[in-house]
Amino acid sequence: METHEINKRFISYFERSGHTPVPSASLILDDPTLLFVNAGMVQFKPYFLGEVPPPYPRATSIQKCVRTGDIDEVGKTTRHNTFFQMAGNFSFGDYFKEGAISRAWELITSSADEGGFGFDPERIWATVYEHDAETAGLWRKVTGIPSERIQYRGAEDNYWDMGVPGPGGPCSEIYYDRGPEFGRDGGPAVDEDRYLEIWNLVFMQDIRGEVSPKKGAPVLGELPKKNIDTGMGVERVAYLLQGVDNVYETDLVRPVIARAEEFSGRRYGADHVDDVRFRVIADHARSGVMLIGDGVTPGNEARGYVLRRLLRRIVRSVRLLGVHEPVLTEFAAVVRDAMAPSYPEIARDFDRISEVMRVEEEAFLTTLTSGVRIFDLAAEETKRSGGDILAGDKAFQLHDTYGFPIDLTLEMAEEQGLSVDEDGFRTLMEEQRQRAKADAASRKQGRGDLSVYREMLERHGETDFLGYTDLQSTSKVIGLLVDGAPARSAGAGTKAELVLDRTPFYAESGGQVADTGILVGSGVELKVLDVQKVVPGLFVHRVEVLAGEVGIDTEVTASVDGTRRAAIARSHSATHLVHAAVRGAYGRRAAQAGSLNSPGRMRFDFTTPGSVSAGVLTEVEEEVNDYLQTDAEVQTYVTTKDKALELGAVALFGEKYGNDVRVVDMGEYSRELCGGTHVGRIGELGLVKLVSDASIGSGVHRVEALVGTDALRHVRKEQLLVSQLAGTFKVPADQLPARIEDVLTRLRNAEKEIDQLRTQQVLGSAGSLADKAADVGGVALVAERLEGDVDAGAVRALATEVRNRLGSRPGVVALFAPQGEKVSFVVATTAAARDKGLAAGKLVPAFAPAVGGRGGGKPDMAQGGGSDPSGIDRAIAALRDAVARE
Ligand code: SER
Repeated sequence: METHEINKRFISYFERSGHTPVPSASLILDDPTLLFVNAGMVQFKPYFLGEVPPPYPRATSIQKCVRTGDIDEVGKTTRHNTFFQMAGNFSFGDYFKEGAISRAWELITSSADEGGFGFDPERIWATVYEHDAETAGLWRKVTGIPSERIQYRGAEDNYWDMGVPGPGGPCSEIYYDRGPEFGRDGGPAVDEDRYLEIWNLVFMQDIRGEVSPKKGAPVLGELPKKNIDTGMGVERVAYLLQGVDNVYETDLVRPVIARAEEFSGRRYGADHVDDVRFRVIADHARSGVMLIGDGVTPGNEARGYVLRRLLRRIVRSVRLLGVHEPVLTEFAAVVRDAMAPSYPEIARDFDRISEVMRVEEEAFLTTLTSGVRIFDLAAEETKRSGGDILAGDKAFQLHDTYGFPIDLTLEMAEEQGLSVDEDGFRTLMEEQRQRAKADAASRKQGRGDLSVYREMLERHGETDFLGYTDLQSTSKVIGLLVDGAPARSAGAGTKAELVLDRTPFYAESGGQVADTGILVGSGVELKVLDVQKVVPGLFVHRVEVLAGEVGIDTEVTASVDGTRRAAIARSHSATHLVHAAVRGAYGRRAAQAGSLNSPGRMRFDFTTPGSVSAGVLTEVEEEVNDYLQTDAEVQTYVTTKDKALELGAVALFGEKYGNDVRVVDMGEYSRELCGGTHVGRIGELGLVKLVSDASIGSGVHRVEALVGTDALRHVRKEQLLVSQLAGTFKVPADQLPARIEDVLTRLRNAEKEIDQLRTQQVLGSAGSLADKAADVGGVALVAERLEGDVDAGAVRALATEVRNRLGSRPGVVALFAPQGEKVSFVVATTAAARDKGLAAGKLVPAFAPAVGGRGGGKPDMAQGGGSDPSGIDRAIAALRDAVARE
């Protein structure tokens, strides 16, 4: 049964049973907690949480999903895809456990003629959550499966949540037994390869907090209703029904393997190692196309990085199959032909998708070439200094700067007879990961429990926003929270959250920062610091009580800081104009990727496959400023989404719009869907000055501009700076660049010279060190502490030099270089010493603990570091003992 047919049957089965078919959401939904949509339920999350009333009680969908957590498993197991389709049925407070079980059972076990999938009921197993006897009972009652084929499992396996705070619940999974030739008896609890999970039924009923119940944490509370969320793995069902060996050989994936066979002249199925490469290519090519289709472009952060990694792994695998030409767009075309029947946008947008791939592949191939050069230099240097271990920081640099996966570095090193200090590499990677994690954590401000806000919304309805026309209103306090909990009142000095029945304050959204201002009532004064729509439609003001006491029902005059708001409006209008000019320059291929509109300053990110030249940005700036002189009127109106798109309004990727949308026009020049506040006429902007532009990951460009008086101030400041520099360097302003270049060149040369002198100086001590060799049981031992600041590279070079001077004698050289609180060391052995069984790498553990450290390496050279320089003498003694023992 073809995959498209499986999808069709799934949807029509559930449609017949009262479910509304809902199209797949984009892979990049506007949910800051998720990198990619990774389950069918993601687009329904607000319905489960009760933030938005569901428009239908039951729904069904085939959702595009990306999960890259197991990327290293791809191609090695039978079942790991980075892109896959999840077929699901959802009930929002309608049917619950029994309804989910009976429907899933009917669909999978009824025969193909009856519209089902025709799985043999005798081969189906079910798992249930450890405390959930009710569900086990339902399985027996509804399907007749005997108890032996129903297994209880713990929270780790049978509790599901999104991996972040939000909805969750116990689940029950359906497995298919592929037969004894695929593994051990004993059900899914024993072997998940023989027993393949095909469908997960989640009983969505809990609100999960910071820590998952999977890890034993208690839930925060119950969802407003009991819901059903299921996910059937379409690729897995396809692979079982198509009688192939794994998900990569199914009808929608296998064609890419065929294309790769043609390119490489190698045959799939002939060699296990090659097969993994074929499968990686097929899997990643599909994920790449689908991600780019939904607006992701390769970059160095977050989504862009994942995409880049996928594409690079394809290029790498292809090279390992012996192909050196660019191939990505060819694979993309095969993916398009396979996927377009279900996802026509892939065909429609194919030119752009294939262009992004072409550019990325070209860039990587260039990188690969320069990376190989860096690698060769590093390898040469390693050998010259007598070592055979490529330093961890080199491997890391190759990875970080040139995108070399470690396995590529390992393989290239092996070809040169070198090994790689993998421990060092991993330590640096781990440090980088920790930095990235700390960043992500500080960005995420997740609120676990939104129920108080939801209650307010239910009780009072959405906040009436007056700020498009008014900057002042008379309003009433209808909700008050102190430290996140409802409060009756709040006195002077308290920070609180406050909801008004109506407000002129703009809540942060669409890149526009929130308004600030004051609230004044009889005897009470509050400062508004921030405004957020914590749940859609509810404006929550973060305030500080300056005087008096505020309580529920207090009447206040709410006043927005008008000067600040006007500056924000100028920025936001400028963003629209810059957007329009960028699209004028690059056409549809340029898409807005984010923006920030703050007082007097705007930031605009856009994606474009090629590079962006300074010349184009100057033109953008000129065009925008020229257009300001028309002083066009800014008009806003509400219309239907379809009508707006028909009028050519620009909408954003991944953004969710309701049916009624607000359109902002600036003459004929710009038309966008936008909820922000703008100027009345564009002449108010005065001047738009681009102050910086930078690439933030390939394909994503960022321009920043100052608007109005802020622009003028900026120009003045730059002028001052230039004249100060001209004074310091004592040349006229127009000669500054040449003068600075000159000074820098001289500085660089001087630094190089100092480095060389240092190394010479260090190497100069080789002779006297070799002379200090002591005879330890017939072995010449040089074990010394180096004085002064000697870096690790120089220590290695010196050790090699001293060893050379020991000539054909059995000799061991160990040098310790203290640097502040740390110490680095190198051990080298001569060939004659190695013949006696003295291996540098093996000597390290004998003395390294004395300096609080560790290290390792090969028989002829090893290195490491420690944290206790005061132990050097003890280390030397320990080494001497170790040498004597041999
Ligand atoms: N959300 C559940 C899963 O991803 C079921 O759809 O497994």
